[in-house]
Amino acid sequence: MATPERRYSSPLRYPGGKGKVASYIKLVMLENDLLGCEYVEPYAGGASVALSLLFERYASHIHINDLNRSVFAFWKTVLGQPDELCRRIRDTSVDVAEWQRQRDIQRQQDVSDLDLAFSTFFLNRTSRSGIIGGGVIGGLDQTGRWKIDARYNVDPLIRRIEKIARHRDHITVTGRDTADYIRQDLQHVPDAFVYFDPPYYVKGRGLYENYYVHDDHAEVAALVLALEVPWVVSYDATPEIRAMYDGAACITYDLHYSAADRSSGSEVMFFSSGMDIPREVRPAGVPAGYVDAQLRFALPSDTGLPTRQPG
Ligand SMILES: C[S@@+](CC[C@H](N)C(=O)[O-])C[C@H]1O[C@@H](n2cnc3c(N)ncnc32)[C@H](O)[C@@H]1O
Repeated sequence: MATPERRYSSPLRYPGGKGKVASYIKLVMLENDLLGCEYVEPYAGGASVALSLLFERYASHIHINDLNRSVFAFWKTVLGQPDELCRRIRDTSVDVAEWQRQRDIQRQQDVSDLDLAFSTFFLNRTSRSGIIGGGVIGGLDQTGRWKIDARYNVDPLIRRIEKIARHRDHITVTGRDTADYIRQDLQHVPDAFVYFDPPYYVKGRGLYENYYVHDDHAEVAALVLALEVPWVVSYDATPEIRAMYDGAACITYDLHYSAADRSSGSEVMFFSSGMDIPREVRPAGVPAGYVDAQLRFALPSDTGLPTRQPG
């Protein structure tokens, strides 16, 4: 079975992080002959899906784009200055005074990529829910059940960063607005398969700095629907979003299984036309081992990997 370290490839925690749907995206790729594609995530955040697709060789190259300057600086630095970033992670003490210092760095305009990247990482790992404005884990007086360093496990986190840096030749990082990215960058990506995970329509505002209003969601929907490359979009299942993607094939599902979340947690995933949708499983609930089994059946015999023997 996969160890947690193998399953969670990203050093960043992300609110609503889509790590859970990675297995489902793999199935989509298997069923639609997309193995070896260039995988694009225009709203990458923690990029957990992209990284697992690259590490497990579903994708030959991944494109991580995020408009947020802190997130962009983080990914740029992971690829460009990983040793310096890891040294900071190892050498910086994790306490409330440091948390306050790192929070102030986010407010500065004239800050180096390395400083901003480290600040982003530090706050992500020491703030509630990983949200930069979320308050320090354990509270300023550190009387909470969990303390500030509860999620700051230096060695495994450094190993994740080093692993990503070793794959840097197969990773492209950009910091563009998604609408511009679709208009200008995407056309230069060969064999692209795109997974859009935009900020939620209803809940997105509180969570992310670069939030969308209705017309922004509508603009992106029009651009996505006009794409000629295969794509998947996930959203909160609101009538407004359904109307924007009217006509696209879709499924609805829940990311959370707890009874309390059942009524509120409904998500929707839309697919580009002609795509085969894996219907036998839900995106957040693909059983362990299921994808591996599908992969064994799907691999073409010329990959050099073990395949089914005839009769
Ligand atoms: C729902 S989150 C993505 C989460 C990601 N899929 C994950 O699992 O970690 C949305 C991301 O989009 C970014 N974002 C918001 N508006 C954007 C825009 N106009 N263009 C590109 N990225 C944007 C935010 O910074 C945030 O990281």
